[in-house]
Amino acid sequence: MNNQIMKERWRGSVQANYGEPTIALVHGNGLEVWDVEGKRYLDFLGGIATNILGHAHPAIVQAVSKQIATLGHVSNFYNHPQVVSLAEKMKVLTGDDLARTFFCNSGAEANEAALKLARLTGKKEIIACAGAFHGRTMGALSLTGQPEKRKRFKPLLKEITHVPFGDIAAMKKAISKKTAMVILEPILGEAGVVVPPLGYLKAVRELCNKYDVLFAIDAVQTGMGRTGEWFGFEHEGIRPDVITLAKGLGGGLPLGAMITLGSANVNFAPGDHGSTFGGNPVVLSAANAVIEVIEQEDLIARASNFGSEIKRNISLLPGVAEVRGRGLLLGIVLTANIAKELQINLLEAGLLVNAATQNVIRIAPALVVTSAQIDEFAEIFKSSLATLQAGSDG
Ligand SMILES: Cc1ncc(COP(=O)(O)O)c(C=O)c1O
Repeated sequence: MNNQIMKERWRGSVQANYGEPTIALVHGNGLEVWDVEGKRYLDFLGGIATNILGHAHPAIVQAVSKQIATLGHVSNFYNHPQVVSLAEKMKVLTGDDLARTFFCNSGAEANEAALKLARLTGKKEIIACAGAFHGRTMGALSLTGQPEKRKRFKPLLKEITHVPFGDIAAMKKAISKKTAMVILEPILGEAGVVVPPLGYLKAVRELCNKYDVLFAIDAVQTGMGRTGEWFGFEHEGIRPDVITLAKGLGGGLPLGAMITLGSANVNFAPGDHGSTFGGNPVVLSAANAVIEVIEQEDLIARASNFGSEIKRNISLLPGVAEVRGRGLLLGIVLTANIAKELQINLLEAGLLVNAATQNVIRIAPALVVTSAQIDEFAEIFKSSLATLQAGSDG
């Protein structure tokens, strides 16, 4: 089997919505993965900020194996230990005894749940941000502020206004007593790891208080310790009313969550919402294992420290304008629009990253990354960038 044959089989059988992946991966361990031809890659994308403990982490493998061999699925007609353990853990992590969690299977679904929750306020208007990404189902896509992704699927939900991210004056202008919910990513992930000016989240919180508006933080990409805090908003000392999670939460298994904090004052009642697989014991066993490892190994501090180390290693390279982001969610901003080409060359050189925009390379390695792997990343990145620049200069 080789990558070319796999690509042809993909083309002949899989929907074309993702384009055509050039390599087929078969196994992984920590931050390393191997393709069908036996080539090894250093994975600095982590399934797009999802494999928070890397590939085949023993704690996840053990938890999931044990759970599937014990009780695989029960439906939400029945309670089970994994669901209450994880929901109780969310109360601890959010520091809110009134926190209540709804489990689903993806980030889009978590935001769909938040959208439905917003309707329970009795108001309809919602504010989201231009450039933001909240998912691709019709409700989540209505929140997503990226015209390219929306245009072929209109009409979307009405009464959603998109304001420029980080612009508090624009938010002030848009928000009113009629607003049901404001939803924000603490750092725009898909749009190229854009960090808002310090004070933005706090100012939005104040506006939401003033107009009695639900403040939802989409921590799908920024959550689970990735930014050096559990959910990506804590550095401003604010508390939202709603948090949506996915990606890192399941450590590579499909899991999303919508958490209401006590301040939300709205919650689902029986019959309001549901999902057959939401809260599946196997998937939740992975999440419980993920949280235990993050806590035991102090991986949140590690995300902060290693994030700073990567910034130090990369920021001053010729061709790099800046490295932005927090912890281990970083955007390497290039001085030229060569991110796509660089991503291809890095893949060739055995490094997985993502060209988030024309000039931004996004990295989101597992929190278990080592110093040696950061050195290896920096070495490959530096050399591929220099080669590409030399090529374009000549
Ligand atoms: C901030 C944010 N919200 C929502 C989503 C959608 O998540 P999913 O792809 O699991 O539906 C993503 C995915 O990249 C995301 O980054």
